[in-house]
Amino acid sequence: MITKRHKYQLPEGYSLLQCILRARAFLKDPVKWISNNMDRFGGTYTAAIGFKRKLILTQHPGFISHVLKENHKNYQKSTISTDAGATYLGNGILFSNGAFWLQQRRLIQPAFHREKLQALQFVIIKTIKESIEKCPTGNAVDIYPFVHSVSFQVLLRSIFDIPLSPDTFREITGLFGNIQEFLFTDTNQPARRLLYPFTGERRSTARKTQRLRSIIRDVIHQRKSSGESKGDLLDMLLNSTYEDTGESMGEEQIINELVVLIFAGHETTANTLCWLLYLLTSHPPVLQQLQADLIETSLPDALTNERLKATISEAMRLYPAAWMTERVTLAADSFGPYTFPAGTIIIPFFYGLHRNEQLWENASLFNPERFMHSEKTAWAGHYFPFGAGPRMCVGNHFAMAEMCFFLHAFLTTFQLQSTGHVPSMKALISLRPDKVILNIKKRVLDKAAV
Ligand code: HEM
Repeated sequence: MITKRHKYQLPEGYSLLQCILRARAFLKDPVKWISNNMDRFGGTYTAAIGFKRKLILTQHPGFISHVLKENHKNYQKSTISTDAGATYLGNGILFSNGAFWLQQRRLIQPAFHREKLQALQFVIIKTIKESIEKCPTGNAVDIYPFVHSVSFQVLLRSIFDIPLSPDTFREITGLFGNIQEFLFTDTNQPARRLLYPFTGERRSTARKTQRLRSIIRDVIHQRKSSGESKGDLLDMLLNSTYEDTGESMGEEQIINELVVLIFAGHETTANTLCWLLYLLTSHPPVLQQLQADLIETSLPDALTNERLKATISEAMRLYPAAWMTERVTLAADSFGPYTFPAGTIIIPFFYGLHRNEQLWENASLFNPERFMHSEKTAWAGHYFPFGAGPRMCVGNHFAMAEMCFFLHAFLTTFQLQSTGHVPSMKALISLRPDKVILNIKKRVLDKAAV
C-alpha cells in the first residue's frame, strides 16, 4: 500500500506491482474494478502506473470540482489521451492544451450556442424523421445499431448538410469504429506497442486516418468550389476568424476539428439513448407516463418538455457516457488531506460520483422525478455528465436537442417492451451497452384521439 511518498501525502492505493498483478481484472471490467476500489478506499485512491507515475482516481465531488473548475489552470489533459488522439484523429480541441486549445475553443464554441443550434434544428428533425421510418420492429430487436446509425447521420448532416451516399456513410462509420478501437487498446494496454512493428496495427490505423481525412477534405473542396452556404457546422468553421489576427482557420485544422466533433459527438449520444431505452423498458410505469406526456407535445416542443429532460438527465446519471476523464497536474497541488507532485494524473470517476449513496437518495434506482422536483443547486455540485469547467462538453446543447427530438419521434411511433435482456457495460472510450434487445411494435393510434 502507498501511504507516504517523499513530502507528498498521496491517498492509499496500489503499488506498481499490485497494479500489474491486477491488470487483468481492470481490463475485464474497468468500471466494476474501479467501483470496488472506491468502496475499499473510501472514494479516492492511488494507482502507480510507472516507477514514478501515479494516478489518483476519485469520485469525491469536491476533488473533481477542484481539478476541473476551481483550480483548472493547474491542470491539463495528459499525454496519455492527447498523444494518441492527436496522432490518429488530429490536433483538434479534444486533444490539445494551453493557448492553442483556448484559441480553438473560442472559435468553435459560438457554433454550439443555443441560437445557432436553432438553425440546425430543421436538419436534425428531418434526419430523425426519415430514419425512424426505417427502424426495425419485432420481438427481439437489438436497437443499438439503429440508434448508433441515426445518431451518426444526425451529426454528419449537421456538420455537412449534404446527403452522403450509403457507401460513404458506411465507410466513415467503419473508419471511425476501427480508429476508436485502436485508440482504446493503445491507451489501456501500452505494452502492446511493442508488437506494432509485427502486427502492422499502427500503420494500418494511420492509413485509415488518412482515408478519413481525404473524404472530409473532398467535402470541403466541393463546398468551397460550389460557393454555396448551408448554415451547417462546416460553414461556420470555414467562415470563422481568429480574434487576434482576423485570419481564417487553415484547411488541415478545420479537418482536425471536424474529425474531433464527429469522434466526440456520435457515440456518446447513441450510448446515452440506448441506455435510456433499456431503463425505460425496464420501468414500464415511467415509460407509459413519458409516452403519455410526449403524445400531448409537438416534436419541436420536446426540447422544453420537463419530464423528457429529467428522464435523459437520470439516464446520464446512471450511465454517464463519459464515465471518467483525466487531467495531469502542472505544479504540485493539494486537496483535503492529500498533497501530490506535478505530473500526477487525476481521474475523475463520474460513474461512481453519480451512484454515490451519500449524495443521491436510492442512488441505484432509476427515478427521473428526482430531476423534476428539485432545484438545480441540489445536485449541480455532484452531477457532471457533460464534465465541468472550461473544458465542459462543447456539444451539450446539441446532444440534448438530438436526444429530445429522437426520443419524441421514437416513443410516439413505437410501443416498446422489455425482453428481460440486461445489457452488459462496455467501458470503452465511452460507456456503451453491448446490446439493447427490445420488443418493438408500431403504435396503433387510438382513433378517437386522431
Ligand atoms: C450525451 C452526449 C454527450 C456526452 C455525455 C458528452 C460528454 C462530454 C464530457 C464529459 C466532456 C468533457 C471531457 C473532459 O472534461 O475531459 C466532453 C467534451 C467534449 N465534447 Fe461532449 N458529450 C456528448 C456529446 C457531444 C456532442 C454531440 C459533441 C459535438 C457535436 C461533443 C463534443 C465535445 C468536444 C469537442 C469536447 C471537448 C471540449 C474541450 O476539450 O474543450 N460532445 N463531452
